[in-house]
This record gives sequence, C-alpha cells and structure tokens, in this order.
Amino acid sequence: MSIGLVPTMGALHEGHASLVRAARAQCGRVIVTIFVNPTQFGPNEDFARYPRSFEADCALAEREGADVVFAPTVEEMYPAGAATFVEVEGLSGRLDGASRPGHFRGVATVVTKLMVAAEADKAYFGQKDAAQVALLRRMVKDLRIGTEIVVCPIVREPDGLALSSRNAYLSTEERRQALALSRAVRAVETLVTDGERRSQALIEAAQKMFAAEPAVRVDYIELVDWATLEPVERAEAGTLFAVAAWVGTTRLIDNAVIG
Ligand code: PAJ
Repeated sequence: MSIGLVPTMGALHEGHASLVRAARAQCGRVIVTIFVNPTQFGPNEDFARYPRSFEADCALAEREGADVVFAPTVEEMYPAGAATFVEVEGLSGRLDGASRPGHFRGVATVVTKLMVAAEADKAYFGQKDAAQVALLRRMVKDLRIGTEIVVCPIVREPDGLALSSRNAYLSTEERRQALALSRAVRAVETLVTDGERRSQALIEAAQKMFAAEPAVRVDYIELVDWATLEPVERAEAGTLFAVAAWVGTTRLIDNAVIG
C-alpha cells in the first residue's frame, strides 16, 4: 500500500488541509506529522511561541482522511548526542536561507528523518514555501531517497493573503498591511501576462506595492530559477518570483511561479 507523508509543524489550517486531501486522493495510507522542529529556528526566532493546537490539529487531520498522526517529542527526533545533519550546499543559503542562517539545515535534516522513518512513497509540500521545495527536491535526488515530492498550490484568504500559521501573530492593522505581499505577487503576475519579462522591471513593480505600506520591511524580492534559486535576468516559464517581508515582528513569505 502506498504511503503518503504530510510533514507539518501543526497549527493546521486550510493550506495544510489541502496537502492532506491530495495525499488522501493519491495514497493508500496517509501520515500527517506534527513537529515544531527546533533545529530550523534561529536563536532569536519564534520557536517558543510558535502556535500549538494539538487537539484541533488531530481533528483536522482526521476530518481530511489522515490514517495516522505522528507527533514525536524533540528527544525522539533528536536522541541525546545527535550529531548528524543534512546540509544542501548552495541552496540552503538562498532566499529564506540567506536571512535565516541554519534554517534549511534544520528543514533538510528533519524531513530526511521523517521520509526515512515513514518509508514514504510520496511527500506533500506547499508551493507557499517555494525555496523549501527547491531544497527538498535537490536533497531527495542527492541522497537517493525514494520519496516523490508532490507540490500543492498556495491556499489564500479571499483577499489574497497566503494562509500561514504565523498569520495568527498579526494585529488587525498588520493583517491589512500584510496584503502588500500578495499584491506584489499579483502585480508581477499581471505584468508578466502583459508581456513584461525583465526581472528588474518586475522587481521594481513589486517594490512599489511595498512603498505603499512603509511599516512593512522587505526582506527579499527576487526572480530566481526555481531549481537552483539563482537570480535570473528574465522571467521564463517555471521562474520563481518570491517575496519575504516583516510585518511588525512577523516574517511572511509569498510567491508565484511564472506560467
Ligand atoms: P509548516 O509551516 O507547518 O507547513 C507545512 C506544509 O504546509 C509545508 O509544505 C507548507 O508549504 C504547507 N503550507 C503552509 N501554508 C500553505 C498554504 N497557504 N498553501 C499551501 N500549502 C501551505 O513547512 C513546514 O511546516 C516545515 O518546514 C516542515 C516541512 C514541516 C519541516 O519542519
């Protein structure tokens, strides 16, 4: 029976639910994992206050058809003396990896452990974390892990905001300001549809969306090759447009893959 793995950090929302549904549709057995992975958080990041809602998460997983919820302790995932980590060179320092040193090392390490432990045939990830997808695609190739990576579309609120567990941190005013990210993504998509392909012009258009929200601090706005995460001069089919920005103390991301 084929095994589908849906790795999460909990605080599940409709974005996670879409991954569970995709796994349910394609796999005989669906395993949802809930683990707030300490190694992917920096020392000054939100590990301690990351939202935790185990009971509601289990209810959602069950409702969407998961067969198993695996919610290990830190000691189970990182036994005393753990000394083995997975580093995807190059990619792990790009986009989110540039502003969050060590983040992708933690992601690669925990996802390897989960894929191997679950003997997963397929693992489901959201395009929302597009750099994570690039990193994990490279990783399963390099380590010859036999798990196929399935990428699911970004689930958004009706006004465009990409769903994220971290949206729970936003005040009403910040929630409004956060729309700058999805506006920037939409502006770029529209320009590309209208024929603009030059990265510089597209990035400038995105920057204008942020200029209208001075309280939002841009981390990066980039057009990159989705496989290598290296910047490109022109947007082609498959190019990744990605943004990250701070809204108050909350760091949010969004993106689009050029059609
Ligand atoms: P987490 O942020 O909980 O996300 C779990 C999965 O849900 C990821 O693949 C993410 O891309 C996807 N997801 C989140 N928001 C989404 C949205 N709006 N639309 C579609 N998919 C969405 O990503 C992680 O956890 C961790 O890094 C993890 C892979 C579990 C390793 O610890």
